[in-house]
Amino acid sequence: MRKLLITGGAGFIGSHVVRRFVRRYPDYQIVNLDKLTYAGNLENLRDVENSPNYRFVRADILDSAFIHSFLRDEQFDGIIHLAAESHVDRSLENPADFALTNIVGTLNLLHAALTAWNGRMEGKRFYHISTDEVYGSLGSTGLFTESSLIDPRSPYSASKAGSDHFVSAYHHSYGLPTLISRCSNNYGPNHFPEKLIPLMIHNILQGKPLPVYGKGENVRDWLYVEDHAAAIDLIFHKGKTSEIYNIGGNNEWKNIDLVRLLCKIMDRKMKRPAGTSDQLITFVKDRLGHDLRYAIDSTKLKSELGWSPSVDFPTGLEKTVDWYFANKEWLDHVTSGAYRAYYDRMYTNR
Ligand code: NAD
Ligand code: DAU
Repeated sequence: MRKLLITGGAGFIGSHVVRRFVRRYPDYQIVNLDKLTYAGNLENLRDVENSPNYRFVRADILDSAFIHSFLRDEQFDGIIHLAAESHVDRSLENPADFALTNIVGTLNLLHAALTAWNGRMEGKRFYHISTDEVYGSLGSTGLFTESSLIDPRSPYSASKAGSDHFVSAYHHSYGLPTLISRCSNNYGPNHFPEKLIPLMIHNILQGKPLPVYGKGENVRDWLYVEDHAAAIDLIFHKGKTSEIYNIGGNNEWKNIDLVRLLCKIMDRKMKRPAGTSDQLITFVKDRLGHDLRYAIDSTKLKSELGWSPSVDFPTGLEKTVDWYFANKEWLDHVTSGAYRAYYDRMYTNR
């Protein structure tokens, strides 16, 4: 029996992690703590919400008093921390929110765990989910390794780097048993349609322009979200404390090539002539400080823990597109109301 806290479990990646743990570990007690910001959606977890080993708690990691008393009362064996503000474009609009949630929120959790565990660290684990973006941007060659320079360029990545440093500091200063992983771009079901792949699927379905930033030359390394969840499971159970693990798809795509591929898949699924969706592609003003290229070297995770991605990109993209076709109601719900106002503001003047 183990008692596990997952933060941010109502979000995109968090919901896949919660589902995996709830299904694979019936003898664990799994608590999902989430504030339910615009990005948190309990519809993502409908299929597991009544499981006897699962509980949801709505709370803000910035509420230090609550987080401290909750961790003290619950005495979790492990914490997997995903709660964060996660969208680069939003961080450019409102950097302070990112510093608060991602740095101060993480610090609250770290201190609450330290206090709750009160020196009894045996078997405990504080696992922080970070991102490859903390390494900054690559040129046209090379890969990020775990010892690459930390060189964040956006307010989002700066806030994630800040949280990583606090996690390491809590290990070195107080002996907290920590783990950090840094993953490349995820894609798959339940991805919020402010991010590239679901935004393009949504806009193609709506017949709206497909906003490609700059010339579409930027490169990202895409990994199917369930492969990230599998890596998190492995690192949580088998990773060495104080270590950092990179996770990547070994699957680099220029944005414009990826958007064209999606257009092709969508035209086929919508049974219309090839080239129809391509006409929606619109090159818009570039993202400020837009990182050119991310690419991850996952050798350490592969050789030490035996992980490898199980879903190839063509299969993963087909599954993803099929999920959005089958879940148009989900898409309607998340694109209504306040989100629409943000959406209009972001894209009308580009
Ligand atoms: P997401 O935006 O879909 O979900 C974030 C979740 O955190 C939401 O459910 C939200 O309600 C919750 N949350 C936000 N602020 C909170 C607060 N103050 N208190 C409690 N809950 C709060 O994000 P995601 O894409 O699923 O990313 C999850 C984590 O993985 C993040 O830490 C992110 O930095 C990291 N990551 C994401 C990717 C990616 O490609 N999406 C890649 C690598 C790492
Ligand atoms: O690398 C991991 C990171 O990947 C995570 O830490 C972040 O949480 C996650 O959001 C993601 O960041 P990116 O900025 O790479 O993802 P996004 O989907 O926002 O953008 C992917 C690329 O597509 C990027 O080069 C910007 C471009 N883009 C994005 C949008 C939303 C466009 O050209 N048009 C768009 O409308």
